[in-house]
Amino acid sequence: MEFPVKTGNPAKVETACLVIPVYQEGELLPAAARLDDASERLIGQLLERGDFDARLGKVQMVPFAPGLGAERLLLVGLGKRDKCQEAAFRKALDAAFTALADLPLDDCAVAFTDVPLDERDAAWKARMVAEATHRALYRFNDFKSEKAPAPRLAQVTLLVSDDGDAADAREGARIGDAVGQGINAARTLGNLPGNVCTPSYLAERAEALGKASGGALQVEILDEEALEALGAHSLLSVGRGSEQPSRLIVMQYQGAENPEEAPHVLVGKGITFDTGGISLKPGEAMDEMKFDMCGAASVFGTVEAILAIRPKVNLVAIVAAAENMPDGRATKPGDIIRTLKGLSVEVLNTDAEGRLVLCDALTYAERFEPASVVDIATLTGACIIALGHHATGLLANDDDLALDLLDAGEAAWDRAWHLPLWDEYQEQLDSNFADLANIGGRPAGTITAACFLSRFADTFPWAHLDIAGTAWTSGKQKGASGRPVGLLTQYLLDREADAVVETGAETEAE
Ligand code: BES
Ligand code: MN
Ligand code: ZN
Repeated sequence: MEFPVKTGNPAKVETACLVIPVYQEGELLPAAARLDDASERLIGQLLERGDFDARLGKVQMVPFAPGLGAERLLLVGLGKRDKCQEAAFRKALDAAFTALADLPLDDCAVAFTDVPLDERDAAWKARMVAEATHRALYRFNDFKSEKAPAPRLAQVTLLVSDDGDAADAREGARIGDAVGQGINAARTLGNLPGNVCTPSYLAERAEALGKASGGALQVEILDEEALEALGAHSLLSVGRGSEQPSRLIVMQYQGAENPEEAPHVLVGKGITFDTGGISLKPGEAMDEMKFDMCGAASVFGTVEAILAIRPKVNLVAIVAAAENMPDGRATKPGDIIRTLKGLSVEVLNTDAEGRLVLCDALTYAERFEPASVVDIATLTGACIIALGHHATGLLANDDDLALDLLDAGEAAWDRAWHLPLWDEYQEQLDSNFADLANIGGRPAGTITAACFLSRFADTFPWAHLDIAGTAWTSGKQKGASGRPVGLLTQYLLDREADAVVETGAETEAE
């Protein structure tokens, strides 16, 4: 997908389709006004006569536009001007690109950077355009015998009215293109069924990424034998009932000028199917537990975005992959296991398996002496009850890290909400027989799950993202969302910016 940036007169732009956002009332935005002038007031008249309803998310194709270089015009409703900020802007983008994806067009030119948003510049708007394009063009039909024709759109030109914004728009589109592709890569991994996307499949994907990276990504796979030798018995306990062997996948990207610079570590929950194990889940919607590796998928998607952007940061991406099945050999409620850290855990519920794979991965992360560790997991149904499907749950042992992640979520419009991780909650994990239990009862299930992880994250700044409510959509639109690839990529890009500021300060002091 190409996202060239053009300044100058939009009336002269030769394209299959001009995409023009318009408010429900009030003045036309700059590009729309110039097109209006050049086309015998085509847009103004459509609005005045009520022939185009510019409510938010409405679109209308105008098949013929006199005086313009474009073959057609797609009007996109922005709704009321005073209500049109980020959320509305994104809704309009989605409406526009959903419509464009179904049309037999190879290219279009969009004037979305014209839309004034209080806190956002042209780079942000361009990024959102590129992300929305990839989101709308995404298809997952590998398993359908009859495939609908693939969308044709291959070029989206960004029409920028203010020349001074062109460079920003270009950079924003570059980031959005990478993030959009990362999001779609995560969606595909998430959407793949459990009989295809197994722990070894994920390991193969990592190896393929490493090969394709031309040396930029180092990949190491720990198989069950290596995990046994290491002492990662907690991770291994989860896959014990499965025919599919567990894997710990480690991917390293060294982008910082100083290779010794402490890396940022991402840890993804990769339960490729979660039946609950012996604490078997009820049957309803159990198919959706193929999405229980969406944390891992978001780590893969972020690695892809980072490989495309190549920021100057060091990154270690770890995926803890296992399949949670009931079986004669499966872990049972009451079993006591020894974690890689050495703490013993009483497994009171085999369905609380995510924390059992993550705790060993967190301990493994220690060896990289990380600057920060962020784990991403579809960890608790309770998080859906607390936050629904809009916000990712965020818990951390370090308030600065929590703030950095909240900021990154705002910037990427992939938002998280901070929940408390107070000591008072820890005692819910007390066990009569081991160092701790793997469940903390019904109250504050998301927090006690994070409390469990925090016991394994005491030597570095750590945060946990519970994406149970945000990683996929159920119902008719069932499918993985690719969240929080946007947040994570932004978080890493911000760390690069931090490093630049720090080195700058040092040079000044010298
Ligand atoms: N993968 C699930 C969490 C989940 C459930 C995410 C539904 C999204 C939708 C996790 O492994 C799990 O089963 N958690 C249990 C924990 C409980 C046993 C303490 C849960 O949330 O019920
Ligand atoms: Mn479970
Ligand atoms: Zn799970």
